[in-house]
Amino acid sequence: MTSEKLQQARDFEAQYVPFIPDSERPLFHVTGGIGWINDPNGFSCYKGEYHLFYQYHPYSTKWNSMHWGHVKTRDFIRWERLPVALAPDQEYDRDGCFSGGAVEMPDGRQLLMYTGVQRVRREDGLLEEYQTQCIAVGDGVDYEKYEGDPVLTGADIPEGNSPLDFRDPKLWREPDGTYRAVVGNRTADGSGAVLMYKSEDGFHWRFVTVVDACRNEYGLMWECPDFFPLDGKQVLVVSPQDMLALGLEFHAGNGNIAFLGSWEHDRFTREKVQSIDYGIDFYAAQTMETYDGRRVMIAWMQNWATSNCQPLNARIFGEMTLPRELTIRNGRLIQNPVRELEHYHGHRVAYSDVLITGETNLPGVSGRILDMTVTVRPVGNAYHAFRLNVAKDGEHVTYIRYKPEMNVLRVDRSRCGIRYDVVHVREFQVRPRNGEIKLRLVMDRHSLELFVNDGEQAATFIIYTPETADSISFQAEGGAVLVDVEKYELDLDKEA
Ligand code: FRU
Repeated sequence: MTSEKLQQARDFEAQYVPFIPDSERPLFHVTGGIGWINDPNGFSCYKGEYHLFYQYHPYSTKWNSMHWGHVKTRDFIRWERLPVALAPDQEYDRDGCFSGGAVEMPDGRQLLMYTGVQRVRREDGLLEEYQTQCIAVGDGVDYEKYEGDPVLTGADIPEGNSPLDFRDPKLWREPDGTYRAVVGNRTADGSGAVLMYKSEDGFHWRFVTVVDACRNEYGLMWECPDFFPLDGKQVLVVSPQDMLALGLEFHAGNGNIAFLGSWEHDRFTREKVQSIDYGIDFYAAQTMETYDGRRVMIAWMQNWATSNCQPLNARIFGEMTLPRELTIRNGRLIQNPVRELEHYHGHRVAYSDVLITGETNLPGVSGRILDMTVTVRPVGNAYHAFRLNVAKDGEHVTYIRYKPEMNVLRVDRSRCGIRYDVVHVREFQVRPRNGEIKLRLVMDRHSLELFVNDGEQAATFIIYTPETADSISFQAEGGAVLVDVEKYELDLDKEA
């Protein structure tokens, strides 16, 4: 049965979404129908397609009472919008249906697990937020909340842990048909942990183990955990709150971290740790395994600290990253755009061995919706820096600047048209190969996703630049460089 609250959200979309022209949205990145979105949820296979849900508040462009919006796709590039899936319409989730996961059941139903939020006023007047895990089951469009909800509560967490921070279940099915879920939680020391649960039928869950705990080292509360095997390793992904900056690897605030390690007999051993994305706008990443066995990750292309900085008169706010294929190479998590993007490659412009001294434009190389790879190599004497300027006109520019002396890449969006005094610059360490650096840049109107050296590092940014600023230039400082450029337009009308 569709509750009044859910119907209201669906009606609201039906009434107002048609007013938003396609030109107000990115071409191939997921947005909400209208209003605000944050985390990706329930990214999973269902009946031959890929489903994605998201944290959703249709009624305004600010975070508020959380619903689950819903889209699906066959190729991660063209998405179909589906009716709002969940509304906060029960006592146990009256203050929000927070993040969670989804899985296809053997009987063909789709099982969603999400965090139900209920604010309760204590005797002394303080508001506390209880978080429990809840189930809803459906057919890929309509979902019924389970009569046994909530299925996991404060009674199911280790003693001393906090029932107030117990959220974001990510679930999957094991080869033996049982279900597992990892859930973020806060331990007695005030920092995060990832708990694992197990179920035979998807409805009755029991605690298995603490997969890992933060111990105040990488941020505080760990949100949105994910846990999966990849290329012979086990990967734990978390989105920590309240990180302290550490060198150029971890920035302060809401972070995104991958621990690479091993998982044996329900014991996780960390071997390596790294940031997942070195940009500004990347959080709450979630992965899934595709029908052809690829591990694909998507994230919210925003940042809590800057999410109040919205373009004036926006009707939609927030979008997802381009889904990325994950692999492990030389002990690092590698990310590349899903290969399906290449099916939509349109007009191609390519140059090789172009000598750059000063600032140069290359005929045919401009635009705001594109997939472009630039390889930079030194020529003759050392050069001071190479700069790739994009989304540029007389007033605006966003640049990627590489300084070979330090092997540091800097992305600066200070002049992208943003009107807020928030973080606009990120710097991170890269690893050139034989003095060469390779930058793949995917742009979709107001986003910029950078993949360095075949996915060794990724950095994601939202820019606020008017679309008319579409110039791209190549610039050498203190010397000369040689560049190869391959640029594709992206054309969604092409038959994939
Ligand atoms: C992460 C997060 C989750 C929570 C959701 C609420 O961005 O804070 O922990 O479930 O957003 O919208």
